Amino acid sequence: MALLAALSLGLCAPFTADVHLPLLGAAKAAALAVNQKLRLLNNEIDFGTKHTPHITLYLTEWQCRSDALVSALRSAVVQLATQRCRVTLGRAYAAGKFAMLNVSAPCARVASDAVVNATHRLAAPNQSVPEWVYALPEPARSEKIADVRRFGSPNVFDQFRAHVSVGWASDESSVASAVAQLAYEPGATFRADVVAVGSTGAHGTVL
Ligand SMILES: *[C@@H]1O[C@H](CO)[C@@H](O)[C@H](O)[C@H]1NC(C)=O
Ligand SMILES: *[C@@H]1O[C@H](CO)[C@@H](O)[C@H](O)[C@H]1NC(C)=O
Ligand SMILES: *[C@@H]1O[C@H](CO)[C@@H](O)[C@H](O)[C@H]1NC(C)=O
Repeated sequence: MALLAALSLGLCAPFTADVHLPLLGAAKAAALAVNQKLRLLNNEIDFGTKHTPHITLYLTEWQCRSDALVSALRSAVVQLATQRCRVTLGRAYAAGKFAMLNVSAPCARVASDAVVNATHRLAAPNQSVPEWVYALPEPARSEKIADVRRFGSPNVFDQFRAHVSVGWASDESSVASAVAQLAYEPGATFRADVVAVGSTGAHGTVL
């Protein structure tokens, strides 16, 4: 894998950034098609003009835009250099306010673990636990709270679930019915050979 890091350095202030696998090729086209079919939701996620279809590896607030962050990311990606990462898109499902595509890719978990291991010391300490975490059943709730405290993210290590978010709406039942009516054939694949870091918009989007 190679690293694509467009971070302008120099300003030491906390910022949120998403380390991710950008979708490529047939999988990118499939995610775009699904996203366009879900337009009836409200366009809050828009792969046509604004957002990058991606699999998040590590989303957190960082202390600073620094050389240390770029070199820690680079060392994680070097460690992944020999990974062959074939990603297959799975079924579409509703997860609360999100419409998601499941992803089958054991290498995504390995890549996430490597990125978190190499970089979490540079994440902002003492980040707040997102509200939705408190609504989860145990043991996920306690594990995610511990992960936020330690790593600044509720979705790492055993709580990592590779997915692509393709739609969002505040009304959960409209998400569920849009997904139920979706004409979508799983199975598009791509070879993930780039790890990218990007700034984030609302609802976990990458700009
Ligand atoms: C996603 O796919 C994996 C197998 O690749 C499966 O174990 C898991 O249950 C699926 N999750 C959903 C939400 O469909
Ligand atoms: C991440 O760190 C844990 C704990 O030290 C270790 O068990 C695991 O193998 C590491 N994973 C990767 C991919 O570096
Ligand atoms: C952590 O955050 C809480 C509130 O979010 C604050 O009360 C506490 O002082 C913080 N602790 C540290 C060590 O910054």
